[in-house]
Amino acid sequence: MADQTLNVISICGSLRKGSYNRMVMNALPGLAPAGMNISEAPPFSEFPLYNADAENSSGFPPAVQKLADAIRAADGVIFNSPEYNFSIPGGLKNAIDWVSRVPNQPFAGKPIAIQSATGGPLGGGRMQYDLRRAMIFLDAFTLNRPEIFIGNCAQRIDAKSGTITDQQTVGFIRQQLAAFAKFIMQFGAKS
Ligand SMILES: Cc1cc2nc3c(=O)[nH]c(=O)nc-3n(C[C@H](O)[C@H](O)[C@H](O)COP(=O)(O)O)c2cc1C
Repeated sequence: MADQTLNVISICGSLRKGSYNRMVMNALPGLAPAGMNISEAPPFSEFPLYNADAENSSGFPPAVQKLADAIRAADGVIFNSPEYNFSIPGGLKNAIDWVSRVPNQPFAGKPIAIQSATGGPLGGGRMQYDLRRAMIFLDAFTLNRPEIFIGNCAQRIDAKSGTITDQQTVGFIRQQLAAFAKFIMQFGAKS
């Protein structure tokens, strides 16, 4: 990957403290290829529910602007999210909706990777395909594969230590991050 540093931000779709998806997200910096820095995006937990009247009267809340600026400045974005009711968790979708309204919307042309962990066996595929669809509308470029679906996550991630214990999962994540680095270079890194 030449001598360029890729600055990637990660967005966790779960707000709960004991989130398995957050544990996966926290492991990413240690699994990234040389030259890729991964840091957590500014939070969306305080975003109000999107309401066009609020946007029109008060503009964008500072937290929305902050996340939008971070996405715009990043070379790529990784989503780590659970699946809620076969789709994108409401809080994450609300965050995407807010950010999508910011002028010069920051997902346009942005390389995206998606990872999901779920308690059940399927690993969040339905959420991922809904998220891909939203990213299509926003003109982002989502990495096709490898895909990361961590099913039965409680058996692959140790909740006490927050570490991924299943080495096959660790290997898949390393492969995806390496592919993501190449993908970003193809689309042209920012920095
Ligand atoms: C509101 C809600 C809806 C859920 N819907 C799904 C679902 O559609 N598919 C699935 O595999 N798991 C579903 N689950 C279970 C989650 O996979 C599980 O709670 C997971 O641990 C959540 O991710 P987190 O640990 O990062 O918070 C749902 C959980 C909640 C709270």
